[in-house]
Amino acid sequence: MPPPLSVTFAAGAAGPWRIERIEAVLGEALPAAARLTMQEGASVPAPPDAVWALRGTTSNPRYTTRAELDALAAVQQGLGRRQATRAALIPIRKTEAWWALAQDERRAILEESSHHIAIGLDYLPAVARRLHHGRELGEPFDFLTWFEYAPEDAEAFEVLVRRLRATEEWRHVTREVDIRLSRD
Ligand code: HEM
Repeated sequence: MPPPLSVTFAAGAAGPWRIERIEAVLGEALPAAARLTMQEGASVPAPPDAVWALRGTTSNPRYTTRAELDALAAVQQGLGRRQATRAALIPIRKTEAWWALAQDERRAILEESSHHIAIGLDYLPAVARRLHHGRELGEPFDFLTWFEYAPEDAEAFEVLVRRLRATEEWRHVTREVDIRLSRD
């Protein structure tokens, strides 16, 4: 595992990613903006003119078994592929009831009941992903999920998101914003 990486997603007038749409799936939306930048590293301050900025950090996996880690590692792709000109930033907050569960209970909901990892594996290597945790930072979202894919995989990504939102795990989601992006 690489060491934790601090990441800030800042929306405003500048940035490599064009914001195509911001949709409130559950709970309050985020303000509209034109562009998004993903800043890596704790020492990089968010641009002072940002409309909004969300922070998170990469971390070690909590729920993934050895077999699942190996299955993911065998197919997953890194961020920044040239052909991956579409992206999604999906910030998510889960309920207090979720956080009151024990680790084994959360794992059972995430995978044995909801098949999150098995479903996700269906969309690799087309979709590259990185999970950021914000809860420990006192952020409004527990997770900042980031995905990159090519335009020809955009339809498949919609199916993936629909499948996950239909699971028991998503009944523990209390706020979700779906931000879609593109770059040339
Ligand atoms: C967590 C895989 C797509 C939202 C996880 C974890 C894995 C995973 C392995 C567990 C990490 C751990 O052990 O701590 C995948 C794969 C996907 C995918 C392979 C295919 C592209 C998505 C999508 C969303 C999403 C589309 C949002 C719509 C999340 C969230 C968590 C998570 C919020 C954190 C859950 C928690 O800790 O409570 N994902 N995922 N994932 N994923 Fe996905």
